[in-house]
Amino acid sequence: MEVTRERAWQTLTQYTKSEALRRHALAVEAAVGWYARDFGEDEEFWRATALLHDFDYEIHPTLDKHPQDGAPILREEGYPEVVIRAVLSHAEHLELPRETQLEKTLFACDELSGFVHACGLVRPTGLEGLEPKSVRKKLKQPSFAAGVHRDEVYAGAELLGLELDEHIANVIESLQPIAGELGLRTAADAA
Ligand SMILES: [Fe+2]
Ligand SMILES: [Fe+2]
Repeated sequence: MEVTRERAWQTLTQYTKSEALRRHALAVEAAVGWYARDFGEDEEFWRATALLHDFDYEIHPTLDKHPQDGAPILREEGYPEVVIRAVLSHAEHLELPRETQLEKTLFACDELSGFVHACGLVRPTGLEGLEPKSVRKKLKQPSFAAGVHRDEVYAGAELLGLELDEHIANVIESLQPIAGELGLRTAADAA
């Protein structure tokens, strides 16, 4: 099969009805797509993989099933092993080494895109004017977006060989074009 963004979106939305989970998929897609372009990689393939990484979370909401029980479904649908292996590798509990640049990038964008999204949701202008420094400050407040694993955010930046601020700035930039889809306000709304 040809791995397209359209096909991945179909698979995602077939198994995922929750708006929050679809938004999470879109946010991770945007960040991973940003890096694909930056690295000169296959942007559509990377975007499709990112969209799929939590596709089974709604039907498998526990770690004894997610994402490992999603893999046979993806295989059945005809997705190549490169996609399946990347999807499996985002999960810390499976302890798979992240070898390809796609696997590293997916891991690095998963928690941070959720965190930056959360930062945008509590600001009247969403992501506009959001600085890495204030994201970093919020990372140090355990009660803010408590579900986001801080250690994975820090490990992700390190895996990409980036300073944390640089990684945060890239993720903010990647999410700005889809702010509306993520339910974020913009400066125009605030005016
Ligand atoms: Fe996951
Ligand atoms: Fe995720």
